[in-house]
Amino acid sequence: MIEIQRNFYLKGLNTFGLDVFASHYVCIRKQEDLSELLESDAFGEFKHQILGLGSNVLFINDYFEGLVIHICIPGISVVENGPERVIVEVGAGENWSDFVDKMVENGLGGIENLALIPGTVGAAPLQNIGAYGVEFKDNFVSLKAFDLQTGKTVSFGPEECEFGYRNSIFKTSHPNRFIILSVRLKLSRKHQLKTDYGDIKKHLSEEGNTHPGISDISRIIKKIRQSKLPDPSKIGNAGSFFKNPILHPLVFEGLRREFPDIVSYPDENGFFKVSAAWLIEQAGWKGKRIGNVGMHEKQALVLVNHGGATGGELHQFAMNVQYSVKQKFGILLEPEVNILS
Ligand code: EPU
Repeated sequence: MIEIQRNFYLKGLNTFGLDVFASHYVCIRKQEDLSELLESDAFGEFKHQILGLGSNVLFINDYFEGLVIHICIPGISVVENGPERVIVEVGAGENWSDFVDKMVENGLGGIENLALIPGTVGAAPLQNIGAYGVEFKDNFVSLKAFDLQTGKTVSFGPEECEFGYRNSIFKTSHPNRFIILSVRLKLSRKHQLKTDYGDIKKHLSEEGNTHPGISDISRIIKKIRQSKLPDPSKIGNAGSFFKNPILHPLVFEGLRREFPDIVSYPDENGFFKVSAAWLIEQAGWKGKRIGNVGMHEKQALVLVNHGGATGGELHQFAMNVQYSVKQKFGILLEPEVNILS
């Protein structure tokens, strides 16, 4: 039986730590709960918003007039157990970071670079989470989703998800239509470590570690993340607030002539991914604080609630940052966080 609650306090369900209420709330523990939800009066009467742990959302109002569908579906099981490869199926409500730790403890590799990313497993494909040279899509096999339009369960393979940089069809073409129930990932018993990104190699050599394993990599990544990114349980934030803009080579070259120090990386399509953190820092916003809102002092891309900020204040601050980067560089930063009103 599902229970639709009214005036539900969402402070624990948004990592900005905002004092927000939803007019209606329901927790979904299994697929059958969704069929029940479709038949309820509350569904259809209000707009709805699917939430995992709320680690990539910004509610801009104190009151969300609508139904929050909180995905709490548990479960981790092995569906294929080979000598080199294991396929696991994970419930959408599982905590991503705990799941990565469990896999690493069991010697299963492929997602160790994605350690400590806040959020649920079900939210991971939505924006194709990525960090330190690995993206969610790299280990993805398939997912099962409930279609709120038809009431049917559908399977999606890699192609159908249309994964891109912090993107998928669940975010762009069909937001709030499909509820991800479970995800299948392929993990390795024989590992190919990804150590090219940033400081991973530096940490390994400082440790004198010449034969690292997946647990070394996840430990180092956690250390790097903890040194740069604020812990949402202490300072409200949703990780990177904006995406790194991807520029056409001609646009990029023009910009590089004017700003020779610009931090960028060529991508696989011949375009250039520019560091949004660098742009924000150069525009003077790194570590800047106005009232209870600021950009983090160690990572300029992270918008933070120093305590007591409203969603409206956070949003206004982010728009001011966006405006000044546009003025200085002519680049319009696109929010990575889902802005909900
Ligand atoms: N930099 C600055 N100023 C800063 C921070 C960084 O100039 O304040 C420059 C540095 O030169 C640095 C470069 O930007 O070398 C890249 O910084 P970083 O490695 O921190 O990565 P990022 O591009 O800012 C992305 C993801 C993060 C992910 C890291 C590591 C996006 C929007 N963000 O950040 O993901 O953890 O790479 O892979 O792609 C998230 O999505 O919420 C998130 C935290």
